[in-house]
Amino acid sequence: MTVKIALLGLGTVGSGVLNIIKKNNGKIEQTSGQTIVVKKALVRNLQKYQEFAEKVSLTTDFNEILSDPEIKIVTDVMGGLHPAKEYISEALSAGKNVVTANKDLMAVFGSELIKLAQDNHCDLMYDASAAGGIPILRTLSDSYVGDHILEIQGIVNGTTNYILSQMDEKGLSYAAALKRAQELGFAEAYPTNDVTGKDAAYKMILLCQFAFGVHIKLSDFSVQGINHLQGFDLQQAKKLGYTIKLIGIAKKIADQLFIEVAPCLLSNDALMANIKNEINALQIVSENLGTALLTGPGAGSIATANSVMNDIVSEVRNLAHKNTGQLFNRFSNEDSLDITKDVKYPYYLSFAQEKIAHLSQIFDELGIEIQELKQIEDRTIVITKAITRRQLEKMTTTGVKILASYKIL
Ligand code: HSE
Repeated sequence: MTVKIALLGLGTVGSGVLNIIKKNNGKIEQTSGQTIVVKKALVRNLQKYQEFAEKVSLTTDFNEILSDPEIKIVTDVMGGLHPAKEYISEALSAGKNVVTANKDLMAVFGSELIKLAQDNHCDLMYDASAAGGIPILRTLSDSYVGDHILEIQGIVNGTTNYILSQMDEKGLSYAAALKRAQELGFAEAYPTNDVTGKDAAYKMILLCQFAFGVHIKLSDFSVQGINHLQGFDLQQAKKLGYTIKLIGIAKKIADQLFIEVAPCLLSNDALMANIKNEINALQIVSENLGTALLTGPGAGSIATANSVMNDIVSEVRNLAHKNTGQLFNRFSNEDSLDITKDVKYPYYLSFAQEKIAHLSQIFDELGIEIQELKQIEDRTIVITKAITRRQLEKMTTTGVKILASYKIL
């Protein structure tokens, strides 16, 4: 049997899907029992994508895909919220199954689209939407069914990890490293979401749905990117034996959830500190397994297309077994988890030159213990003992200006 599919978008990930199908079609056919043909690809500009015209019929009109009864799977690799949401909604309403790599869309409109898929007995799969090539969502869904996840912590944005690695190891400027990440196809079309931490936050939202069965929104937690990192703090962190990484943390404590995306300091010899460039890593702590670490390429054409391909093949199997209409994530926690700020971590704090006596008095009043204090150039650097985010936020009300604050993991 032949299953015909359509691609929405032929950029970094879409072209990767075409390449994988061409290169590995023998194995794909053998393991799925079906021949997969990309019948149509939706692009914005036919001229720009002429090089693909021999491999796939190009169109600028989504209705050509929607009204084609032969197309059973619509694969969204175009990114962004709109018109992706409208296209996917129309495809599901028309009874077509959908595979998407679009984390923005699934983090913001996921519940609505999943319901639409259910109502139309269609599948909606999105394993490529978190951590690129790492098959994390399906793993959380299938391989932790009898387990209880306590914490997920990791590097979930390839672009920022690439930028920080290149600045640290090759001495590249922030702008030059970002430009290179864009050229290599790691960054989003508009990389603001990468550097401000929003892309990582969307992925944490999806990971929390699968790990804890909860639905949280972007506005529920603190998200900080790498766009305000200062060279001074990067250098000081390095001198103190730390590496800075953009880390997403989701930690369940009883009926509360601590969740945050922020640049953090990791000891140079920590496993996560040595995850470089576009590589992502997820550390999952659970009752049955203890700590498991999954690592691999979190961005890039072929790596992300590989996850998309896994979803397409799963979908093809469901079609063959007339088994569509399944939820990709079946875990839903009836009891919602309250978001907490009361988890303790040591912090690196950087102040404009402050009188030590004055700082010490404020630290005392807030119950913050100092582990190390240094005065360098016109700055005061303090490494605190473990404190909560709430204590840190209180400090900003004392009139003391914190120039930088990073958790130390
Ligand atoms: N821009 C994303 C990243 C792509 O850098 O991780 C993969 O989601």
